Amino acid sequence: MVDLNDPIYVLTILFFVLALQRMSDPKTARSGIVYAGGAMLVAVLVTFLVPGLGNLLWIVIGALIGGFLGYYSAKRVKMTDMPQMVAIFNGMGGGAAAGIAAVELVAYAEAPQYLGLALAGALIGATSFAGSVIAFLKLQGWMTQKPVTFPGQQPLNLAVLAGAVIFAGATLYLATNAWLAVFFALALAYGLLMTLPIGGADMPVVISMYNALTGVAVALDGFALIDSSAGAAAYAMIIAGTLVGAAGSILTIVMARAMNRSIGNVLFGAFGATTETGAQVSGTMRTIEPDDAAVLLAYAARVVITPGYGLAVAQAQHKVKELMDVLESKGVIVRFGIHPVAGRMPGHMNVLLAEAGVPYDHLLDRDEVNPEFASTDVVLVIGANDVVNPAARRAGSPLQGMPILDVDQAKNVIVLKRGQGKGFAGIENDLFYKDNARMLYGDAQESVSKLVQAIKKL
Ligand code: TAP
Repeated sequence: MVDLNDPIYVLTILFFVLALQRMSDPKTARSGIVYAGGAMLVAVLVTFLVPGLGNLLWIVIGALIGGFLGYYSAKRVKMTDMPQMVAIFNGMGGGAAAGIAAVELVAYAEAPQYLGLALAGALIGATSFAGSVIAFLKLQGWMTQKPVTFPGQQPLNLAVLAGAVIFAGATLYLATNAWLAVFFALALAYGLLMTLPIGGADMPVVISMYNALTGVAVALDGFALIDSSAGAAAYAMIIAGTLVGAAGSILTIVMARAMNRSIGNVLFGAFGATTETGAQVSGTMRTIEPDDAAVLLAYAARVVITPGYGLAVAQAQHKVKELMDVLESKGVIVRFGIHPVAGRMPGHMNVLLAEAGVPYDHLLDRDEVNPEFASTDVVLVIGANDVVNPAARRAGSPLQGMPILDVDQAKNVIVLKRGQGKGFAGIENDLFYKDNARMLYGDAQESVSKLVQAIKKL
């Protein structure tokens, strides 16, 4: 019988919930990570106390290898490479969920209703594993980042999924495990095929969706094990899996909304496959020298900095903090306008700026900052492109309807970027051609450095 009162599991579950709650605010997010990591460690350790646990040596060896690889890669990863690390870690979770289900199914020792749950967990876990591996390969640049499309792709994907479901049904209703290999091959193929047509920069949304699916797979495994010797560990799996499933789903929806895309469009729209530019711009881009930009900034009453993916690429966050300090020392009010999908992952800019010591109360979200642009003297756009592109207001643009930062309403806009590179959406930016906009070309870190030096001399 399951020991529902197992106090340690209940405690770890409580800490998972608290961890999620703390992660919803940047001030407490770090402690949320510690809560979740600590609770997971305790949950793993206490599992060793489950009566009748065999293969102890193998478990310890596996845990040590996994623990070392996880620790080592997380320590070394660059902030800009974080999405692919999350993808591969998540894939491992999906793979583990599919593996646990496979063990149950190969043994075929449980009652049919539990095997049905195991099959559902296996299908979702294997799809999530294969899909996350493709997401990792795309983001790491080990395969093309572009959507891979071919005629008849969606019907083929549907047929593969239907095949997996049919073999799952056969496993259950013919009471045999003879078809398990075909079932798993089809489930893995589905994850792979479904991820191929999705472009690299849409991957954060997809990873978040696979993360939710991994949570669901773990929860289903927990249900499948509920009457087994796993004991209260099954309940921990159900609750932790459900939390991951719910949190991942919400994050997926929030991200898609911030890009003004439906989940269906992200999954099936092959965004970025066409050469559609959406360009309808006229006029010329004008440049500005660092010394002139420094004068504009130093004599402004109010400056808003809007960071984007390029700031992360240039690792310019520390220089940007220096710029904020030097401007504030001259009496300028400096704030940061953070778009929810600036960068390549949720909270990307907040994490970078917090790392550099920018106070949280200086960070304004889109709804807070948009009404302020009209009374802002200078907006400094640092490595951001799509999230400040007024083309989003124009019918027919690929960005149409995406809620943006209305930086073009400020008196002056200075855009820091290296050259003519486009943003993730691959379209021209109307902002760069506006009368109040000036381009300051160069790597963001170097350009901000020059601005700091020039302002100090004033
Ligand atoms: P992007 O539109 O990707 O633009 C980044 C800009 O940075 C480029 O125009 C590039 O121009 C410039 N840049 C690159 N390296 C630089 C460097 N070293 N120094 C200076 N500039 C540099 O960035 P964004 O405005 O942050 O928008 C994010 C995009 O990603 C959105 O379209 C969003 O929908 C998408 N997306 C985000 C997420 C999340 S959750 N954040 C998830 C999925 C998709 P140059 O090459 O000319 O320098």
